[in-house]
Amino acid sequence: MRSFALASALAALSVAHAGPTATNKELPRQADSLPTVTASGNAFFAGDQRFYVRGIDYQPGGSSANVDPLADTDICGRDIPRFRELGVNTIRVYSVDNHRDHTECMNMLNDAGIYLVLDVNSPSYSIRRDRPAPSYNAEYLQAVFATIDEFQQYDNTLAFFSGNEVINHDEFSTRTAPYVKATTRDMRQYIAERGYRRIPVGYSAADVSDNRMQTAHYFNCGSEFERSDFFAFNDYSWCSPSSFRQSGWNQKVQNFTGYGLPIFLSEWGCTTNGRDFSEMEALMSDDMTSVYSGGLMYEYSMEENEFGIVEIDGDNVRELDEFSAMASAFSEYPAPTGNGGFTSTTNSVACPTTDSVWDLGEWGPSALPAMPTDALRYMTEGAGEGPGLDGPGSQNSGDGEHETAGASAGSPTATADPEDTGNAGARGVPPVDGAIFAITGVVTFFTVVGTLLL
Ligand SMILES: *[C@@H]1O[C@H](CO)[C@@H](O)[C@H](O)[C@H]1NC(C)=O
Repeated sequence: MRSFALASALAALSVAHAGPTATNKELPRQADSLPTVTASGNAFFAGDQRFYVRGIDYQPGGSSANVDPLADTDICGRDIPRFRELGVNTIRVYSVDNHRDHTECMNMLNDAGIYLVLDVNSPSYSIRRDRPAPSYNAEYLQAVFATIDEFQQYDNTLAFFSGNEVINHDEFSTRTAPYVKATTRDMRQYIAERGYRRIPVGYSAADVSDNRMQTAHYFNCGSEFERSDFFAFNDYSWCSPSSFRQSGWNQKVQNFTGYGLPIFLSEWGCTTNGRDFSEMEALMSDDMTSVYSGGLMYEYSMEENEFGIVEIDGDNVRELDEFSAMASAFSEYPAPTGNGGFTSTTNSVACPTTDSVWDLGEWGPSALPAMPTDALRYMTEGAGEGPGLDGPGSQNSGDGEHETAGASAGSPTATADPEDTGNAGARGVPPVDGAIFAITGVVTFFTVVGTLLL
């Protein structure tokens, strides 16, 4: 990972300056880099293989501890061998310190065959549910972009969450949606402008049935540049003993058929009647794989809300009964072979209309705030150093005044080679081999044009 990251950084530099090729020292490494994951059609691919998230949510101490588990090998090194025992291929971390280096933990994850889905927010750098307008500001975006800068260099960074459960049951929480969607757009633009690998960006929705469909549609409507790369939601409706039908997951397959983007469960794991993790049987079956790409079991460590499967006390980790039950379920229900019946094309959907449960306030159903002008320079200059978890915070830094974004907002201005879909903000194509890449690249181009014409 380290040597690869260095090599690609140098490659990026040499492209930028068209200078001589630098020779870099070969650094020691244990395993090859994992293949990078891309979003394409309504699925993820690792190399040329369909990729399913078979993961676990990981934030020891919870959000109140405000500790980055990936900046300290005493923490990640304690837990990564257990992730291996569980058989997970992905962890989700809810907040990290963008002022610190993550090379060691990310390399250890890589060597264990594990990808990272990362939330880019932290307790004091995030959109405030009660005051979204002032919390969407340049200082906030600087922190978000600094997190991207740090994690884009690791091949096993699978995806970024632009927000987590910002929209929930609370009255008026839907009014945060335009700011979260604007953040998603800005992140995608930043990734394109900086010439980074196109790491998928999406939102993680709360388990709220009243507005789940509207939220999903909202994040996949509008211009090419403001649509997410995937959608994820938290779901606790399967309480064992249950089934595909009894849980209502059959309806969630039906409702999301034709949605047009990859979907996975960002949290699953009801605890009501005890846990046998039989959700995995459904998630990995062809009942679901044409629409869903797996999910993340909530969660690794036992916290106040009692969803954990281990108890942590300093260096000591006690595995609860659920730990081996989860490991058994993961080994009993492996990722299916073949393509799972995915859809190779992507499509946008209509923005949901305003009603009693979906009210975006002043922005209406589809308008978005423009990126704060103070933040524009990050696109060319980079974000610079991250403020970390102990920075002064950004939630009250803005004045709450925003221009309305124009039709091409989020479009990268860096005019890369038009053949290079990797930088054009277009949708992914399966990185299968050169020939297929070229063909689907053309299809993607027409899909994008088709979308813009709608
Ligand atoms: C499916 O979609 C319909 C229409 O939007 C909605 O009323 C229903 O609650 C949805 N069901 C599930 C399980 O999401």
